[in-house]
Amino acid sequence: MAKVKTRFYCQSCGVESAKWVGKCPSCNEWNTFVEEVVTKPESNKKTTTGLSTKHGPIILADVEAQEQSRVISPDNELNRVLGGGIVPGSLVLIGGEPGIGKSTLMLQIAIQLQGTKIAYVSGEESEQQIKMRADRIGIKNQDCYLMTETSTDKILKYFNKIKPELCIIDSIQTLRSPYIESTAGSVSQIRECAGEFQRYAKESNIPVFLIGHITKDGNIAGPKILEHIVDTVLQFEGDRHHTYRLLRTIKNRFGSASEIGIYEMQQDGLRQVSNPSELLITQNKNHLSGISIAATMEGLRPLLIETQALVSKAVYGTPQRSTTGFDLRRLHMLLAVLEKRCGFRLGDKDIFINIAGGLKVEDPSIDLSIIASLLSSLEDVAIPSNHCFAGEVGLSGEVRTIARIDQRILEAEKLGFEKIYISANTKGITQSKFNIELEEITTVEELFRSLF
Ligand code: TYD
Ligand code: MG
Repeated sequence: MAKVKTRFYCQSCGVESAKWVGKCPSCNEWNTFVEEVVTKPESNKKTTTGLSTKHGPIILADVEAQEQSRVISPDNELNRVLGGGIVPGSLVLIGGEPGIGKSTLMLQIAIQLQGTKIAYVSGEESEQQIKMRADRIGIKNQDCYLMTETSTDKILKYFNKIKPELCIIDSIQTLRSPYIESTAGSVSQIRECAGEFQRYAKESNIPVFLIGHITKDGNIAGPKILEHIVDTVLQFEGDRHHTYRLLRTIKNRFGSASEIGIYEMQQDGLRQVSNPSELLITQNKNHLSGISIAATMEGLRPLLIETQALVSKAVYGTPQRSTTGFDLRRLHMLLAVLEKRCGFRLGDKDIFINIAGGLKVEDPSIDLSIIASLLSSLEDVAIPSNHCFAGEVGLSGEVRTIARIDQRILEAEKLGFEKIYISANTKGITQSKFNIELEEITTVEELFRSLF
């Protein structure tokens, strides 16, 4: 092999060095030097013809718009998060914690795409393991090629031979480029391997999906090194002990970055959930106290979620506050508002909050529903099951307006709710437009009076 020239660069200020150093002489940061390829052997250059070298600068208005015909996959949730189908030549990164179902999702998409030649590269599992998983999913596809290979050089060679129409790499952390010394999974390897596949995708106009593991602190392969290289970043998340999984768009060059897709993990693979609200609300006939329904938004999708609260007298010295799927500090804030603005004595109570379905909700519009559940449990009076809530609660106990209120109201109406509590300050909403009754409130105290 011809000589490959590599150099070390500081990740924080960009200073170059011939060998690795622990402390950057320029910015004084520690441990920031990473090896990168500077020149590659000639033979390799032939396959990587630079895109821009074909012609010089051209005027933007003269560029012919080519309608990129997207590949519409049978998976509607995936199409949705990608902004309406798979864009040819795009590089998509799917991140997620280990065991969440990334390999299952991608294998499922690979075998569902009948009639499209797929290359599924796995550096983590053997052919037999993948076959077992495919059998579990149950569908057969004659055009799906398997490869258990970790060298990017060989993978690209095979790609050029079998000419796939879609490539899946599981996972980027297991790959190794022969041009770099460091071990698989290191920052320089990941960056170089992703760069090679990016070039491949752009030159051949074939979409490439990269699976990436997320480190403990939630970054994809460490310090977000891949996010700017790829076109689209999707995150697969959910609670491993629950069946729901969310596929969230974090970055998308070809569509909205606030889409989500919802799946349910079953015995035979992942199933698309097209009407999530119906599943997240347990239809409870014998009305129990401490339960209310929040009209929240996940990305651009309205989602009605059940919130549960339990308020009971503390038996042990220090009262406990515990939440699942909701920010504990936010709960403390809401409890302080209830104490100060409505005069409830909660200091000697154990308080538990639970969001149904193992979801984590960050949308502040869930506040009103949390308060309603808390009040309902405290008073031990059930809230009618056809009522729902949407509003953010401020520090002075005021109910604030939230974004996309009309979408939430329409979703609640669609699911058969008869009354929705919203902020009285909401603009542009009139009762005459909706069949569902709008109950406009200004403060938490008003909510209490209206409910009980
Ligand atoms: P996997 O795709 O291997 O996760 P990742 O690639 O993100 O590490 O998913 C593994 C989990 O999914 C495992 O705990 C078993 C579960 N699973 C099902 O429940 N049903 C199925 O049909 C499959 C294939 C997996
Ligand atoms: Mg996997």
